Amino acid sequence: MSNAPLRRDLPKVGIVGAGQVGSALAYACLIRDTAPIISLYDIDKLRVDAQVADLAHGSIFAEPEVIGGADVSSMRDCDVIVITSGAPQKPGQSRLDLAGINAKIIADVMPKMLEVSPDALYVIVANPCDVLAVVAQKVSGLPTNRVFATGTGLDTARLRHLIARRAHVRERNVEAVMAGEHGDTEFALWSSARIGVTPILEWTDEQGNRPFTDASTNEIAKDVADAAYQVIAGKGSTNYAIGLSGSFLLDQLLSATPSMLPVSSILDDYYGISDVALSVPTLISNQGIVRPIEVPMTDREHQELTASANVLKDTIKSIGY
Ligand code: 2OP
Repeated sequence: MSNAPLRRDLPKVGIVGAGQVGSALAYACLIRDTAPIISLYDIDKLRVDAQVADLAHGSIFAEPEVIGGADVSSMRDCDVIVITSGAPQKPGQSRLDLAGINAKIIADVMPKMLEVSPDALYVIVANPCDVLAVVAQKVSGLPTNRVFATGTGLDTARLRHLIARRAHVRERNVEAVMAGEHGDTEFALWSSARIGVTPILEWTDEQGNRPFTDASTNEIAKDVADAAYQVIAGKGSTNYAIGLSGSFLLDQLLSATPSMLPVSSILDDYYGISDVALSVPTLISNQGIVRPIEVPMTDREHQELTASANVLKDTIKSIGY
């Protein structure tokens, strides 16, 4: 298997980790035509060669070229590198339980990637992604606009899905964001959630009832926070939705025009919060983080943001970063 792409000087996405998440992300990038070159890397040669071959055998049905292997040279000159490698969450574990073990993997992988792709943007998917984004920035010394985590992009997709089902509308009509930790302390920004242009708490169904109340919104937010636990209990891991949301994020990171998405970047005085990565609505582009946007929040939402920040800071400190 060749490590060098047939076509050169084209946008290239690198994915570290050929497990459930990395391979689902590579597949999503292949079928969504995210970039002309997709490279998959893993230290497990047998597994990565098999994943690359399986993806490449399907490339006649898609546009991108898939390359990769166990040699870091396949990750040379990437525009964006996504890191998915790490111990996966097992039933009964929280994402934060993985901080110590996965920080070691990030500390090992980052220097290797920087050697071959010093100008790339670095996106952390491995969990706890908010904590690992800080670790990746500290071990690499990269500017904070170039290293960040997928954060609550997936949770936001889950939230929009649940709202859309309750309101009987398409997901794309729902504007709503999960913010904070990609984990147990995440919360919904209900005060800015809308269906079309209607504030969510004012939405009425055909019978004139309001399906979104304090009780039902609390239940929806809890279901979003529990979603990964449910999927992990049933099939051992989550992979398809993170693959799709990751490839959507990559589309935005290959474009010069900024888009607004919730991503987890290291904040610098965002409503008084600094030196911790968590998700808020953020402008992103091929320059990485353009800027987090200070969206209006209620007192409760501010408190939830601060609580998330405190939990993440404690975890970062507990693993020595
Ligand atoms: C997810 O939310 C486990 O973080 C992973 O699907």
